[in-house]
Amino acid sequence: MRKILLFWVAFCFLTVPALAAEMGSFKYHDFKKPQKCGACHKEIFQEWKESLMAQAFTHEWDQVEYFKLALPHALKEPKVAGVKAGCIGCHAPLAFLAGDIPPKEASAGTRANEGVSCEICHNITGSTEKEPFNFSYTIQPGKTKMGPRADARPMGHKVKQSDFIKSAEFCATCHDEASPYGAWVKETYREWKAGPYAKEGVVCQDCHMYRAPGKAATMGPKRADIAHHVFHGSHSPTKLAGAIDLALYVNKKKASPGDRIKIRAELFNGKAGHKIPSGSAEERMLWLEVWAIDANGKSWHLPVKKKGFKGEEYTIADPSAYAYFAIGEIMEIKDFKGLKRDGNVPAGARIFRRPFFDPKGRMTICQWYTEKNDLVDYRIGPRETKIENYEFQIPAGAKGPITIKANLFYAQIPSSVGEFFHLPESEYEPILVNSAEIIVNVE
Ligand code: HEC
Ligand code: HEC
Ligand code: HEC
Ligand code: HEC
Ligand code: HEC
Repeated sequence: MRKILLFWVAFCFLTVPALAAEMGSFKYHDFKKPQKCGACHKEIFQEWKESLMAQAFTHEWDQVEYFKLALPHALKEPKVAGVKAGCIGCHAPLAFLAGDIPPKEASAGTRANEGVSCEICHNITGSTEKEPFNFSYTIQPGKTKMGPRADARPMGHKVKQSDFIKSAEFCATCHDEASPYGAWVKETYREWKAGPYAKEGVVCQDCHMYRAPGKAATMGPKRADIAHHVFHGSHSPTKLAGAIDLALYVNKKKASPGDRIKIRAELFNGKAGHKIPSGSAEERMLWLEVWAIDANGKSWHLPVKKKGFKGEEYTIADPSAYAYFAIGEIMEIKDFKGLKRDGNVPAGARIFRRPFFDPKGRMTICQWYTEKNDLVDYRIGPRETKIENYEFQIPAGAKGPITIKANLFYAQIPSSVGEFFHLPESEYEPILVNSAEIIVNVE
């Protein structure tokens, strides 16, 4: 069998994994369509179909990023040539395994569109890595499906009880990623591993595949703890809502015009097993807006008090800052001036993020073109609390209540990038994670 050493891990400075899931080592027809499995696994199919797993290739932003940026870039920049196949190893594993590289766009309706399907996850047997990353899964399609239980009695196929499928390492095969330059550009698993949940034995599945009584298959037995295939993440406002606790305090609740009110916001990540945001950190933003609103509805946006840490400027919204210049280079746009770094986030707001930088030292949303991302990581770790301070001087002549309001928002992509690519607004509009308010009476 011909070994194709194309993908980028071969270039990277980290340990090079043995090639397990090899490009082109199988045929599409070695894998059954999800609808086939859905004939008996009705609910699981329905859940999977609605999840991002089923849309990992067809989703608009994924199409744009691969076909307009990563693929053209791979074709002209040798250092990133591996991503032509690499992106597909996680987003359309069937196409990768079938050697259909690059796959046709989603509109062509090929089997790449199945994304991360039943037959990928339930044929994965392990990983070549102890701490997996970069689609380092080993896979064996066929009659036998890997499953969590020892007492399953399937129909029309066999099952093998697998400890691997129940582990966080299973998810890590796709959820951690090293760039061709050796930077960790996705490390949800590594964040989890370093945090409290790993020590307590709480794995990804416990929070992303919740359990309930029911049946795994229509002809199967009733069980107390069926694993649901929801895979809710940051695309689900219900998963994000309240994912961070927010508390607001002022040093005095009664004040006079001219007084300076000191405000403290406390943010606690008590629900995620990893940092928030996690995953595609190059484009995710979580930010806190703190406003003072007087009795007449007049409002002031309050800038966060600087703490003075290295790289802090990237964590404070600045409408005059431009970034993402590599987009212009890749798309060969003359006189490209970059895009607004922070989209429409109001000036002075604290942004919890981890900026990525390309080999030319410019902030980028191209994770494959990332050389460094260790300047600053100001996201909120699992069970971590971050405290932010603000000040507001009560205006002369003010009377009545002044409301101090804090809104915590999350966006998948900076709005400037979403608008530039004409993405559906739903893919970048701010999602409210939490809010809090407190009233100061002015006498
Ligand atoms: C003809 C019906 C049928 C079809 C089609 C079918 N299965 Fe199953 N499958 C079952 C039954 C029944 C069980 C047993 C459920 C139980 O014991 O709770 C099962 C169990 C499983 C299990 C769980 C094993 C465990 O450890 O609990 C997995 C995984 C699985 N099937 C995957 C698949 C995949 C992937 C496909 C499509 C390629 C598929 N099945 C197609 C009937 C079917
Ligand atoms: C992203 C990977 C992934 C995909 C995609 C996926 N599964 Fe699963 N599935 C899992 C994991 C992980 C478990 C075991 C969870 C556990 O018990 O910890 C599981 C469990 C199951 C079970 C056993 C449920 C139980 O509790 O008895 C069945 C049946 C199953 N999957 C079928 C399917 C079918 C059918 C599809 C496609 C419609 C599918 N899976 C897609 C990862 C996946
Ligand atoms: C074969 C690769 C692969 C495996 C294995 C895998 N994932 Fe994913 N997962 C993906 C891809 C690709 C996406 C991104 C989909 C998109 O937005 O394009 C994703 C997205 C997600 C999301 C985000 C959904 C959102 O709303 O933002 C969650 C949550 C998730 N996966 C959880 C898991 C868990 C838990 C496991 C292990 C049980 C797992 N994944 C295993 C490839 C994988
Ligand atoms: C204690 C529960 C918990 C555990 C354990 C957990 N998660 Fe999450 N996860 C969450 C919550 C809550 C969110 C929503 C907040 C967010 O999007 O950051 C989330 C979000 C995500 C997202 C979307 C991240 C983003 O910002 O786009 C991905 C991907 C994900 N989880 C994957 C995983 C993987 C992989 C593991 C295991 C290594 C894991 N999760 C472990 C609770 C958990
Ligand atoms: C190691 C597996 C892996 C590789 C390689 C990979 N991705 Fe991803 N990608 C993921 C996972 C997992 C997520 C989901 C993370 C999250 O929800 O934050 C994701 C998320 C994304 C998203 C965000 C989707 C959204 O809705 O916000 C885009 C776009 C994307 N990937 C494109 C690419 C491109 C283009 C490449 C190649 C340059 C690539 N990916 C390489 C696993 C991978």
